[in-house]
Amino acid sequence: MSQRNLTHVARAIVAPGKGILAADESTGTIEKRFRSIGVESTEENRRAYRELLFTTDGAGEFISGVILFDETIRQRAADGTAFPELLDRQGVIPGIKVDKGTTALAGFPGEKVTEGLDGLDGRLGEYRDLGAGFTKWRAVITIGEHIPTGTCIAANAEALARFAALSQQAGLVPIVEPEVLMDGAHTIERCHEVTAATLTAVFAALREHRVRLDGMLLKPNMVLSGTDCPNQAGVGEVAEATVGCLRDSVPASVPGIVFLSGGQTDEAATAHLDAMNRLGPQPWQLSFSYGRALQAPALKAWKGDPANAPSAQRAYYHRARLNGAARHGRYSDEMEAAAS
Ligand code: 13P
Repeated sequence: MSQRNLTHVARAIVAPGKGILAADESTGTIEKRFRSIGVESTEENRRAYRELLFTTDGAGEFISGVILFDETIRQRAADGTAFPELLDRQGVIPGIKVDKGTTALAGFPGEKVTEGLDGLDGRLGEYRDLGAGFTKWRAVITIGEHIPTGTCIAANAEALARFAALSQQAGLVPIVEPEVLMDGAHTIERCHEVTAATLTAVFAALREHRVRLDGMLLKPNMVLSGTDCPNQAGVGEVAEATVGCLRDSVPASVPGIVFLSGGQTDEAATAHLDAMNRLGPQPWQLSFSYGRALQAPALKAWKGDPANAPSAQRAYYHRARLNGAARHGRYSDEMEAAAS
């Protein structure tokens, strides 16, 4: 794909009012989510659940892309349509998670590095043939007493940059995801400092690897107080800190920033995105790429029972619509109440 096409796809993913559904939970992660609703994680249950999400009527108005897992991109709807084709027909771009998860960083207790570069070039060609238009790679940075170290940030930044360069070479738009975890008792200031250092290292590595910044998207965490911090920053403070941090570290040529929800409640994730978009125009689109924050109510409504599929779809549609409103800074508490 030419650079023009990469930019075209990246811009389509962050089209006004739209964002991404992250449905790329690995087999282990989806098993955890299913356990929370008492559902066994069989291949058929995983397929049926994803089909329910992907066939939700009208969701395409707010969802521009869906991130799939290796198993999911090969699965089909009950009527035999391959999932990537099913999405494509609704104008939704299929994407694929291509990293192989995290492993302990040797010599650095408590820190992780993401694996999956070996053989990646071959896998990218296969995913493109299966219909993918974009890819995602997640790096994890943990805040703790003497961490993150510069070594951990550098190792993850290098892997993200190599992934992004390979994706662009294969004609796929890379979504570069350095996630600074919200776990811990740290303050919002500490999260700001670590997020800024991480993004600075990531963009230095991307340049070093000749990644074209107008043909990629960034998927960062928001700047938040740690989950166990006694002083929780409010919505306005989170919005100001996050946008300030991004303005300091993300080049204006990047078409869009698609936040992860990272364990925030679904309502908090929407409120934060809304508050950021109310701050006025930024160099990049500010959008969402939520997993839990888009799926949690749907999962709870579904409970593995096909009879609950319509109410699960309503719950998913509702969250998609509210996040669509937050893209324009037009979300309100009353909209939450409207559905309940
Ligand atoms: P969450 O929104 O649940 O953090 O998931 C997004 C994602 O894709 C993590 O890699």
